[in-house]
Amino acid sequence: MDHLKKPVIAGNWKMNKTIAEARELALNIVNGWTETGATLILIPPFTAIQEVRRTVNGTEIYVGAQNVFWEDQGAFTGEISPLQLKEAGCGFVVIGHSERRQYFGETDETVGKKVLAALNHNLRPIVCIGETLEEREAGQTLSKITSQLENSLLTLSENDFQKIILAYEPIWAIGTGKNATPAQAEEVQAYIRNLITRKYGKEVADYAIILYGGSVKPANAFSLIKEKDVDGFLVGGASLEAESFLAIAREALRA
Ligand code: 13P
Repeated sequence: MDHLKKPVIAGNWKMNKTIAEARELALNIVNGWTETGATLILIPPFTAIQEVRRTVNGTEIYVGAQNVFWEDQGAFTGEISPLQLKEAGCGFVVIGHSERRQYFGETDETVGKKVLAALNHNLRPIVCIGETLEEREAGQTLSKITSQLENSLLTLSENDFQKIILAYEPIWAIGTGKNATPAQAEEVQAYIRNLITRKYGKEVADYAIILYGGSVKPANAFSLIKEKDVDGFLVGGASLEAESFLAIAREALRA
């Protein structure tokens, strides 16, 4: 099991960028990244995966996908299988993003199935969890996190669990410009690491990668990454420009 270098900075491009635009963005990131000691993952839309993969070839930058189905092949119109993602050059795949849960009916159960399918094909899942504003205001944040983890992740073998990256993304912070404060992120992420310790032990928990996502920008990255349990970021909007994505990665590395 090789451990990824922390901090891990992943850019979720969501449903943005044509193939040509994706190539340009990836090229600007490749050319602008001369540092070592962090892990960068670019997560373009399906149509641009192969092009981005070609563009980062020979560098240490990884490529991921935004979703995957749990079957290898078959009559599942519109879905993409783990085999297809591997072939296109992905090493990672985002599973259970809140936008998938909210608009496309994903549940902890489907997230669990996708995680197992990805692991079977050596794709490392980046699994997203997080609470809504109503849940936070009702004091249900930690119970929501507990149930999301218990339902789809803490049933994995220790070996499988070690391949997973977790992303805490409070839904109220996504795309709103209103990031969680460092203390809010740390409270939840320390709680997550504690759950991992209880289930798999301290060594697994220490190595576990727990990202924060939700309105991460160059201006807030340093204060967030300084928290003990923030191991990197899953960046949306600010990953669509090379300059801001690289600035976040440099801030993360500076801490
Ligand atoms: P923003 O950085 O645009 O808030 O998006 C976060 C996110 O959803 C990353 O997966």
